[in-house]
Amino acid sequence: MAAIANSVEYSIRDRVAVLTLNAPPVNGLSQPLRSGLMSALLKARTDHDVDAVIVIGGGKMFCGGADIKEFASGEVSEPDVNAIARCMETMNKPVVAAIHGVALGGGLELALGCHMRIATSDSRIGFPEVTLGVLPGAGGTQRTPRLAGVTLALDLILSGRVIDAQKAHDFGLIDALSSGDLLDDAIALALDATRRGEPLRVAKYLPVKGAEAVEQTIAAALEKVLRRTPGAEAPRAIARCIAFAASGADFEDALVFEREEFLELMNGAQSKALRHLFFAEKGASKIPDLPGDTALRPVERVGIIGAGTMGRGIAMTFLNAGMAVTLLEIDAEALASGLEAIRKTYAASAEKGSISAAVLNQRMSLLRGSTDYADMADRDLVIEAVFENLDIKQKVCAKLGEVCRPDAIIATNTSTLNVDVIAQASGRAPDVLGMHFFSPAHIMRLLEVVRGKETAPDVLATVMALARRIGKVAVVSGVCYGFIGNRMLESYLREMDFLLMEGATPAQIDAALEGFGMAMGPCRMMDMAGIDVNARVLDEREAEGALPDDPSYRALVRKLGAIGRNGQKAGLGYYRYDGRTPIPDPQVNDIAADLAAQFGITRRNNITDDEIRDRLLLPLINEGYRILDEGIAYRDGDIDVVWAAGYGWPRLTGGPMHYAETMGLEQLRNRLQELGRQTGDRHGYFAPASLLSRRATGAA
Ligand code: CAA
Ligand code: NAI
Repeated sequence: MAAIANSVEYSIRDRVAVLTLNAPPVNGLSQPLRSGLMSALLKARTDHDVDAVIVIGGGKMFCGGADIKEFASGEVSEPDVNAIARCMETMNKPVVAAIHGVALGGGLELALGCHMRIATSDSRIGFPEVTLGVLPGAGGTQRTPRLAGVTLALDLILSGRVIDAQKAHDFGLIDALSSGDLLDDAIALALDATRRGEPLRVAKYLPVKGAEAVEQTIAAALEKVLRRTPGAEAPRAIARCIAFAASGADFEDALVFEREEFLELMNGAQSKALRHLFFAEKGASKIPDLPGDTALRPVERVGIIGAGTMGRGIAMTFLNAGMAVTLLEIDAEALASGLEAIRKTYAASAEKGSISAAVLNQRMSLLRGSTDYADMADRDLVIEAVFENLDIKQKVCAKLGEVCRPDAIIATNTSTLNVDVIAQASGRAPDVLGMHFFSPAHIMRLLEVVRGKETAPDVLATVMALARRIGKVAVVSGVCYGFIGNRMLESYLREMDFLLMEGATPAQIDAALEGFGMAMGPCRMMDMAGIDVNARVLDEREAEGALPDDPSYRALVRKLGAIGRNGQKAGLGYYRYDGRTPIPDPQVNDIAADLAAQFGITRRNNITDDEIRDRLLLPLINEGYRILDEGIAYRDGDIDVVWAAGYGWPRLTGGPMHYAETMGLEQLRNRLQELGRQTGDRHGYFAPASLLSRRATGAA
């Protein structure tokens, strides 16, 4: 076997050249791999001992797509994937892609450039480019509508969703499925094609399927996507490329058109932001002082204490990952209600067709209920999700410290309490950490993993690995009030209330933030989360002396809580509700005006959307710098992941810290100072964080 450029192996079997991509971990199409593959193809083309060619991936997968790191250079060096695909497509010997694991993005485009594709039945394919703010730039937007039709091409490329091989086969993107040895089956397929001498299936010569009424089809698909991400540029460019394919344009011209669109996106701010988040998510699992080879504790059996809102969602998270769960409640009635709620959620999914009846039964069979702590004795991990009350949590954790196996991990889902204090109560603090899930826990991707001051390294490493297994993106936070996310949220909500007292309306504030791209404005968000919950936390913090010495601080939310306007569930909050629809309520403005008079806050009618955005977002970012300076978060990217995965921050801006870099740190610092002056510098709320000032002047 010969190695070409160390990244592609060239061997011959039964007069078939087997080109094995060998660039672990994902066979990313970096320049060395591309040039190695091109050399191997050119060799196979003129090799008289070769009648056909197979391209196959070494290691875990066929190919994870373009090497995203290379995008930062702003250009694509030769040979690009387009040139390779054209080389394969125009070859006079059959070229077959043999796919296992995944073929994604450029990897799928490589496969589409081959004459035929065979895939293992457990492999998956897709075009995730749109999630990185780009489009398939090596013929993907041109060959997919030819093989699978316009509608499917739009669906796949605009959504970035990954489909299994069977579906891909049904759609015409895969020619054959392999149930035995992939390489043997691929060789048989290639030799068969050689023997039959049938015309090779070259995408170029296939017409685009579904080209009639294409304008409406494209417009409808695009509109659906833009409703979720209105400012996104990539979907628009994708639509233009597919329309170009459907226009019957020359294939070469279409490839050039697609390439230009790709390069423009790759060099744009949105793709840069999305790529930043991609690598930030991967980076968040790496803990600076934790060796990558830390031995993990086994986790198969999970216990959950408390079957309320969070306990139910957390239970489903583990059940969905195929893990056995015992759910413990205070009494039989509370337990029955928790178990029934889980069953109902699954039954609703089965009714909608998103899971099968077999999956429903399988998940429910993994679930046990209990009211006896002795049932926690065989659990590998126990997560408490009882009431947010320190005394109760200390008692629960003390009990768990006694009954759990010595190597079991104990986690708390507290959102506001001190994890170190809870850990002490267990009598075995090294086994304890925080697992802060977000509601609904089985849906939200974010998991803040709170590292206590005594948390053992293997406990932290185990939970970070486990997070991946249960489909969460985990970010480590140190112990502080609110951890990373809720601590930053505090200043955002503070300014929301101040602006309402100054004369803005909830609808205006929500529209300004949603216009920026937040998934939901802060007033609606508070109404959904429950105003009583937040008001109670504020009362407790005040009692602890943890709030600023400012009677107007978050006065509106506390007032709404005090009069029972507890949010959506009460039908009244920052809005009044018709079902789940928020309706502006003049009474809220009256309450805000009364409070303004009480605290000497001047009412104005000149509050702009820009001011609202700056007032809410910039202090939030400022707090991010304090969190970094204190070592609560390890990296800027961790904070960005928390906000993008847990709080609906617009991914297109890369998260708050990336957004700050884009805006310029000097400008951010100056704007904070200006807002401080404008608002009378109430309690130094806008004082730039030391790290921000240091970075703005290049001193850090
Ligand atoms: N480029 C560069 N690095 C990549 C990469 C890529 N496309 N895909 C993965 N990596 C890196 C990861 O950052 C990670 O690095 P570290 O170990 O340093 O953290 C490493 O490879 C392993 O990645 P995972 O831990 O994610 O491995 P996995 O086995 O769990 O998943 C995967 C593999 C399914 C391929 C997943 O990594 C993935 O989804 N990658 C992104 C795929 C993608 O978006 N491809 C499209 C690229 S754009 C394109 O292709 C356009 C074009 O050509 C024109
Ligand atoms: P909840 O009130 O819906 O549920 C708490 C459950 O715990 C109740 O069913 C109660 O019967 C049970 N319980 C109380 N004491 C118990 C004990 N000693 N033993 C067994 N069960 C006991 O509360 P929710 O919202 O589920 O919150 C639980 C925890 O999750 C809290 O710490 C909260 O701060 C945290 N959290 C809540 C989020 C939310 O959005 N609701 C988000 C993130 C964290």
